[in-house]
Amino acid sequence: MTDSSRKILVTSALPYANGPIHLGHLVEYIQTDIWVRFQQQRGHQCTYVCADDAHGTPIMLKADQLGISPQALIDQVSQEHQRDFAGFLVNFDNYYSTHSEENRHFASLIYTALRDGGHIERKTITQAYDPVKEMFLPDRFVKGECPKCGAADQYGDSCEKCGATYSPTELKNPYSAVSGATPVERESEHYFFKLGNFEAFLRTWVDNHVQEQMIHKLNEWFEAGLHNWDISRDAPYWGFEIPDAPGKYFYVWLDAPIGYMASFKNWCDKQGVDFNAYWGADSDAELYHFIGKDIAYFHTLFWPAMLEGAGFRKPNGVFCHGFLTVDGQKMSKSRGTFIMAETYLQHLRPEYLRYYFAAKLGSGIDDIDLNLDDFRMRVNADLVNKVINIASRCAGFIKKFSGGELAAALTEPALYADAVAAGEQIANCYEKREYSRAMREIMALADRANQYIDAAEPWVLAKQEGQEQAVIDCCTMGINLFRVIMTYLAPVLPQVAEDAKTFLNVESLGWNQIQQPLLSHSINKFKPMMQRVEADQVNAMIEASKATLAATESQITPAAGPLADEPVQDTIEFADFAKVDLRVVRIAKAEHVEGADKLLRLTLDLGGETRQVFAGIKSAYAPEQLEGKLTVMVANLAPRKMKFGVSEGMVLAAGPGGQDLWILSPDDGAQPGMRIK
Ligand code: MSP
Ligand code: ZN
Repeated sequence: MTDSSRKILVTSALPYANGPIHLGHLVEYIQTDIWVRFQQQRGHQCTYVCADDAHGTPIMLKADQLGISPQALIDQVSQEHQRDFAGFLVNFDNYYSTHSEENRHFASLIYTALRDGGHIERKTITQAYDPVKEMFLPDRFVKGECPKCGAADQYGDSCEKCGATYSPTELKNPYSAVSGATPVERESEHYFFKLGNFEAFLRTWVDNHVQEQMIHKLNEWFEAGLHNWDISRDAPYWGFEIPDAPGKYFYVWLDAPIGYMASFKNWCDKQGVDFNAYWGADSDAELYHFIGKDIAYFHTLFWPAMLEGAGFRKPNGVFCHGFLTVDGQKMSKSRGTFIMAETYLQHLRPEYLRYYFAAKLGSGIDDIDLNLDDFRMRVNADLVNKVINIASRCAGFIKKFSGGELAAALTEPALYADAVAAGEQIANCYEKREYSRAMREIMALADRANQYIDAAEPWVLAKQEGQEQAVIDCCTMGINLFRVIMTYLAPVLPQVAEDAKTFLNVESLGWNQIQQPLLSHSINKFKPMMQRVEADQVNAMIEASKATLAATESQITPAAGPLADEPVQDTIEFADFAKVDLRVVRIAKAEHVEGADKLLRLTLDLGGETRQVFAGIKSAYAPEQLEGKLTVMVANLAPRKMKFGVSEGMVLAAGPGGQDLWILSPDDGAQPGMRIK
């Protein structure tokens, strides 16, 4: 190792606590996790913290809508987020919340320091106010007709039809997206952070701490002038009250980045680590933030200025990445390419995606595309056919000819030495976040290992008299090359690396351990470490995404009890209606459900496919009246686990209920499976 042990603190952006983790988010968490695991594998002290971003108006309103407290909402989402991250093997040292005492402490501390340093200014501004809900409305919560093109139902900041940007007061016939009331204008005093005070500091800081491509963007921002930043919001607001301003709250983005400190402090207290050694102005620890380019302004201007103003250390680097597209387009709910972490994991192994992202990620801010065919072929070709194949072709022969013991010497030491020497270059690529280059170099090594085995033909030697040692020698080379390659891939494929350790019968896959090959060493029985990705699995994931997203809004279910007493009767757009897949189906079977007094279990024939649906129609129909008849079902409803089993859709009924419920259509030529609409 060239550099001695470093002390490194790494963060990923804090995901909002009002929605599920999707594959777009995972670009970032996987990118960061690979970097952290790499640093740890190189022997550095690298700590990775994150948290949920738990404050702000959208979270407050969402909780309101669900009839639960914001605290209950963020607790539930936090669990879901942590479950999803764990599922993708993202290994945080600490996962916390911005709604924590530590964060309140640091937010107050930083604000007070900025105020005392003369960096806070108060000013009265006019804003849209919802007189029914009695709250100020963020731009996104005022809707109306676009002042340019007249399109209806546009947000208060920009028009989705013509792309115009404007302020909410310019909308025609504005209404509150919260209550529907016509907003009024109202004055209120706000607190502003004087970013301009830090212009000179930022201009030099930026040059050494952000990527080349971002500097360009930052220069545009400097040209446009650094404006004062509104850091306060009026009650009712879900966040921290400003210490010297009752009824005023910190804007969510003020305390969000401070959440990095708070999560780390929480970890320090549990571990007995000195917080100041990392965050003090003279700290010798390294600090890096991984973020998406959409939140660069907050991290490359506001955040370093806040830290500077409050006397803390600044980050050594802010690493921006681009956005994820799927099959060349923005993730789309209707195409099924808005894929949630949870849905992915129900169909595919996390390491497929980790590898695919690694193979695509560079250090820049270009968007990265998940091409689903390429994804499947790439993973199969590289990981299954190349890397794992090396071990699987050699393991059996070692077992058979030497009882699992590797040879005492390498027959091709130069080939091995080359693979070890490539490590420095590969490490360099990881360090600089040039993962795609690292993956290319590693796959080139795997190609060479396979070529070596192809040329040596152990399967031919194995059939020849007196060639046992030659087989063992060749496979010892193969297994040793496999070990080197798995060492390099370990940050990307943590679970495969674990399995490889078991197979190789080694304690760890440390970067410096490969200097010594494994010789006269017993290995364990080979078990397949990774299966091929099949097209069916990918297709099933896409179908499931289409189905679950129809139900996204009900993703977050209240922990207990029904929703608020009065359900909001929202209208839906035609586009939403068009997503509902209505089908004619034949009731193949209808049965009583043991222990249920309203339900019948229906087996529905969609013209080839069958589904099980539980329907609350027992009051109106006896099972024998139903069998063989046609009805209409919602075929793309997300499967729901019910007390008696999984319900895979819903049948439509007409009538007031009780005995008066009709779900049948006469058998007049409609075919099961036929789509309606
Ligand atoms: N809560 C803020 C971050 C506060 S950090 C102090 C936020 N949350 S987020 O949930 O919207 O996004 C979390 C991270 O995921 C951000 O860095 C964002 O750029 C990233 N991504 C969200 N969607 C993404 C894609 N579709 N593609 C790539 N990254 C994406 O922003
Ligand atoms: Zn418009």
